[in-house]
Amino acid sequence: MNSNASPSQSDVWSDWLLHTRHADDPEQERALHAELEQHADRVLDGARLASGMTLADIGSGDGLIALRAINRIGPSLRVVMADISEPLLRHAEALAVQRDVRDQCTFVQCSADALKGIDDASVDAVTTRAVLAYVPDKIAALREFHRILRPGGRISIAEPILRDDAFEASSLKTFVDALPPESDEPFFRLLHRWKVAQFPDTEEKISASPLTNYSERDLVRFALDTGFADIHMEFHIDVRPSAVTSWEVLLGTSPHPWAPSLGVILAEQFTVEERQFFEQVFRAHVEGRQLVTAERTAYLTATKTMR
Ligand SMILES: C[S@@+](CC[C@H](N)C(=O)[O-])C[C@H]1O[C@@H](n2cnc3c(N)ncnc32)[C@H](O)[C@@H]1O
Repeated sequence: MNSNASPSQSDVWSDWLLHTRHADDPEQERALHAELEQHADRVLDGARLASGMTLADIGSGDGLIALRAINRIGPSLRVVMADISEPLLRHAEALAVQRDVRDQCTFVQCSADALKGIDDASVDAVTTRAVLAYVPDKIAALREFHRILRPGGRISIAEPILRDDAFEASSLKTFVDALPPESDEPFFRLLHRWKVAQFPDTEEKISASPLTNYSERDLVRFALDTGFADIHMEFHIDVRPSAVTSWEVLLGTSPHPWAPSLGVILAEQFTVEERQFFEQVFRAHVEGRQLVTAERTAYLTATKTMR
């Protein structure tokens, strides 16, 4: 990292990862971390790291995967943490210092689709989790992963598949648009106003957003098109009661860094009466533990051929 630059203290990525994702609620943060560690372990299993290897974690965030990899493999592992967010790189660096593993780490500020500063064939494994969703040119990113891997090296990716969330917003739009003008059914109109503030709800918008314009099968195609072999993809869908059981936490969280929280949406896009009505109906649902989440994750591993 350029130590002469004057970094901003926070950006949209660090705000979300370090605060909004868990609404600054310690209990929510603990529950989330327990879940994230399972994702990280699955990604690391796929990377098949061994002593003496170098791992590049792209979109390294708070160091979840890279620091866990060091825990697993020990002092012989070298990790390159690459991220577009300087505040997050500094946060991960501070954690590495705290854990006394700073010497094993290199921090590179760059975009996943232009890994400037990481040499060709310089790493044994590339991991990335919940990053490609924010990269418009995913093929360019996979090409870069291929470039920096040594022959025989592996990628291990976990990406959220968010297009179903957009399809749900789109179905809600269809339903609401079909309501007769004289209908006095306000709840679904308000529910749609919330969802459309967080996910695209038309075919055009879904195709235009890097968050929603790809499926798990597209990820396989991207890996094939960029020259990877031994491609394996597992698609997990987990539908379960939401960990969010507090109205305040629901107001403070958002499903991804580009989405405003429900609290912001209510404050900016609802009238006082609409807010009161919505809370009256929905709060009991949340506090009665009736909120359900559906998480869709594609896990992909592949190898750069020896030739
Ligand atoms: C949802 S967070 C995931 C962080 C981390 N991989 C994890 O598993 O916890 C998305 C991360 O991607 C980074 N990011 C977003 N766009 C990026 C890009 N074009 N290139 C590299 N990193 C990017 C963000 O700064 C953030 O750290």
